[in-house]
Amino acid sequence: MVPLRVRPDLSGMAPYVSPQLPARIRLNTNESPHPPPRAVVEEATGALRNAALNRYPDRDGTSLYAALSAHTGWPQEGLWVANGSNEVFLHLFLAFGGPGRTSITFEPTYSLHTLIARIAGTRTTSRRRHDGWAVDLEDALEALGTERPEIVVLCSPNNPTGTLEPLDTVRDLAVRAPGLVIVDEAYAEFAAPSDGAIGLLSEHPNVVVVRTFSKAWGLAGVRLGYLLAAPEVIAEMATVRLPYHLSVPAQAFGLAALAHASEAVEAAQAVVEERDRLIVELAGLGLKTWPSHANFVLFEAGDADVVWNGLLERGVLVRSYEGRPGLESCLRVTAGLPEETDEFLSALAEVLDE
Ligand SMILES: Cc1ncc(COP(=O)(O)O)c(C=O)c1O
Repeated sequence: MVPLRVRPDLSGMAPYVSPQLPARIRLNTNESPHPPPRAVVEEATGALRNAALNRYPDRDGTSLYAALSAHTGWPQEGLWVANGSNEVFLHLFLAFGGPGRTSITFEPTYSLHTLIARIAGTRTTSRRRHDGWAVDLEDALEALGTERPEIVVLCSPNNPTGTLEPLDTVRDLAVRAPGLVIVDEAYAEFAAPSDGAIGLLSEHPNVVVVRTFSKAWGLAGVRLGYLLAAPEVIAEMATVRLPYHLSVPAQAFGLAALAHASEAVEAAQAVVEERDRLIVELAGLGLKTWPSHANFVLFEAGDADVVWNGLLERGVLVRSYEGRPGLESCLRVTAGLPEETDEFLSALAEVLDE
């Protein structure tokens, strides 16, 4: 066989895996348990019925960008939409990372930040978080001096811990960073609006806020995410995207969802109630949890693998962090419907009793 000559920097890199098992109750990938409102599906499919699908989509997503600008109150020239926030990150790393450049993450956090950086050929480095999972500001500032990263990645609420990053930390890092400070706010709608970093954008043009329709909006299957930033940041993004990257269906669903934004807020509120119930009930079972501002709860489960398997045998799928530094005995459960919370809790009580 001819030598394949795979990129040497990809060797030893494992692809992202989160098991998609056919469980009765799936609480492992932080999706919304609520489908999008019926009106959203009807409006989007109605638009598709009349769409010229033999033609390429509107490359600039004109209507979607206008609606998103109205929704966020941020000018259109400072918005960028892509196929899920993962693709937003890919575009950011392609434009601002890449060979000879460095990004920094604070672990534990969402593993895709490092994986996507490496796919784009970026050198990655990381620092550990405090006990309460916040970024250690002093250590982070020291890292900015030694590593000089072009990209700093924060995540608030952080996945998988659910904890918030204080806005003062974001501000201090933005002032001292030699490049971008990206704040992944995939779960922002489950936290208080005042905890989001959007308010920092005008004052700190190197701050980038990334959001998604995959969680609170109940549209994980559509693949839509976006960023808010200074227009100078956005100006670099068009160079690295593939032409017509936003399909006609993705644009139609985004537009319809934005027209019914208040229903997404209500659905998110119902999920928040289940999250808070999970925190109370898990503590009642004697398990350590952390204050979550997202749609999931991280908890210590002793032998995480045994508990994970015991839950799966009972039809409940959660996420295990067995083997992840700092999270060895942890599991993460997504807040679902009230009846899913009930089933998860009774299955967990049984497993812990065994
Ligand atoms: C912190 C964080 N960012 C981004 C994503 C990916 O979202 P999307 O579906 O928008 O690509 C996830 C998904 O779980 C996440 O946890």
